[in-house]
Amino acid sequence: TVAIDGYSSSGKSTMARRLAGATGYRYIDSGAMYRAVTLYALDHGMISATGEVDAEALAAALPSIRIDFAPATEAGGQQHTLLNGTDVETEIRRLRVSNAVSPVAAIPAVRRALTEIQQAMGREGGIVMDGRDIGTTVFPHAELKIFVNASAETRARRRFKEMMETGAQVSYEDVLANVVRRDHIDETRAESPLRKADDALELDNSTMTLAEQDAWLMEQFEKRVQA
Ligand code: CDP
Repeated sequence: TVAIDGYSSSGKSTMARRLAGATGYRYIDSGAMYRAVTLYALDHGMISATGEVDAEALAAALPSIRIDFAPATEAGGQQHTLLNGTDVETEIRRLRVSNAVSPVAAIPAVRRALTEIQQAMGREGGIVMDGRDIGTTVFPHAELKIFVNASAETRARRRFKEMMETGAQVSYEDVLANVVRRDHIDETRAESPLRKADDALELDNSTMTLAEQDAWLMEQFEKRVQA
């Protein structure tokens, strides 16, 4: 079991996806699950114009929210997140969802429900999961735990570039503000806040190339998991 946690847009998903590809492990993006629940809440009028979440209504709706992952359609491509059978992969990456997700992810009932599903997915091992609380709460006994960071500006630049490539109409300033705000909410929430597990390896990838990052990751994997 490999747990990769870290700040928003730190490159966790890329790391996790590439490691899974290289090892044949299954990759699960836990953030996509929080994003899908947030999209459900937005579409069902559970989040007010000022961003207030109706936590009670959302908790009651949790049993009727089903999240699945469909394998990538193209080689090396991204898997798709399904919300109650509908492909929401593009939708959940929009700023509308990014701006609403952290308050939703702070709701204890939401965290408990998703943690339970994630633990069931990892029961057999052979899994790489990325998120905020994977090494601390979801898989505290993971063989390899990594905590990724990079400066907020580096992270916002990466995310901005990614969003521009998908044709999103956003400004760099809005993306940076979202990254900073989400980090703050994720770090200060009461239930399983974003925190480095004591036994996690720390990686600052601000100045690393993808190839350097891959090499570092494989070395850690071989040391901890294959040993
Ligand atoms: O990709 P990005 O770094 O923007 O975020 P994400 O991994 O898609 O996660 C979106 C949001 O979900 C985070 O800002 C957290 O509020 C929440 N999240 C969480 O609370 N716990 C996790 N294990 C994963 C995500």
